[in-house]
Amino acid sequence: MEELRGYAARVRGLVNGRLLELAATADPRCAKPHAAVRHTIRAGGKRLRPVLFFASCELCGTKPERFLDVACAIELVHTASLVLDDLPSMDDARLRRGRPTLHVIYDEATAVLAAVAELMAAFELIARCPGIRRDSLARSLAAELARAVGIDEMISGQQLDLDSVGKSLSMDEMEFIHAAKTGALFMATARMGAVTAGASEPEIEALEAYAKNLGLSFQIVDDILDVTATEEELGKDVGKDEDKPTFVHLFGLETSRTVAGELVATAKSALGVFRRDTTVLRQLADFVLERKS
Ligand code: IPE
Ligand code: IPE
Ligand code: MG
Ligand code: MG
Ligand code: MG
Repeated sequence: MEELRGYAARVRGLVNGRLLELAATADPRCAKPHAAVRHTIRAGGKRLRPVLFFASCELCGTKPERFLDVACAIELVHTASLVLDDLPSMDDARLRRGRPTLHVIYDEATAVLAAVAELMAAFELIARCPGIRRDSLARSLAAELARAVGIDEMISGQQLDLDSVGKSLSMDEMEFIHAAKTGALFMATARMGAVTAGASEPEIEALEAYAKNLGLSFQIVDDILDVTATEEELGKDVGKDEDKPTFVHLFGLETSRTVAGELVATAKSALGVFRRDTTVLRQLADFVLERKS
């Protein structure tokens, strides 16, 4: 029974190594965007989505190592979303992953270009992933990932999030924003793991239910930490979502914690259909709730 801590450290090591390889260039003319991308990668991050991808593959019966580039693609898309989210025109954040944000170190143009480069690199990685032996799998994975960060999910979630400053939203509206801006990528990640492993329909459905609840609780906890944690602990700006209608603003800290806890419990119970060891995913769900950064 492998525990989350060791599992996540191994996945982080593999992903970081591969991402740094990709962000290198010998051509001085391309040095600046490469350096900008390297900055976002070196800054670290929890690499939770690659861990979710690896664990989902494994739970459905496939060794994930040869699909490392797919995990890296997911992380690149996530990292790009953070670069964009931090821009002055969005959350206007100055700190990310313990370092100054990209637009602070360089400028907005360089940050936007680096984010677009990361998005493009993600889809090239899937298209060329040497471990993928069927073109139809590459197609499914690319479509799944594109949808999650596309116009009807992350883009609309971010748009509504930004347009909600100072407004009060209904529970349904808020849930949509959370699911779209954050949940969709968790959902796509778990589905991509399942599809890579050729999972059965009940297995896919179970992982979807897990990821849906995990994603929602993840954003609620993120909003709790935005209020309760310090910049040093989080490695990112705090209080940035002060004027936004979050769960915390609507229900207060205590109720938000309770709701997040219920969602995590529901996520874990969805794993009941699996006969294989679900320790990593169960501990990942607990981590989402207990995390301090
Ligand atoms: C932060 O995600 C953005 C949200 C979706 C709330 P993470 O907390 O996973 O960020 P990193 O990757 O560890 O920096
Ligand atoms: C951002 O949510 C979710 C993304 C799609 C990037 P937040 O704005 O709350 O994320 P943080 O707190 O800046 O990491
Ligand atoms: Mg934001
Ligand atoms: Mg933000
Ligand atoms: Mg936040």
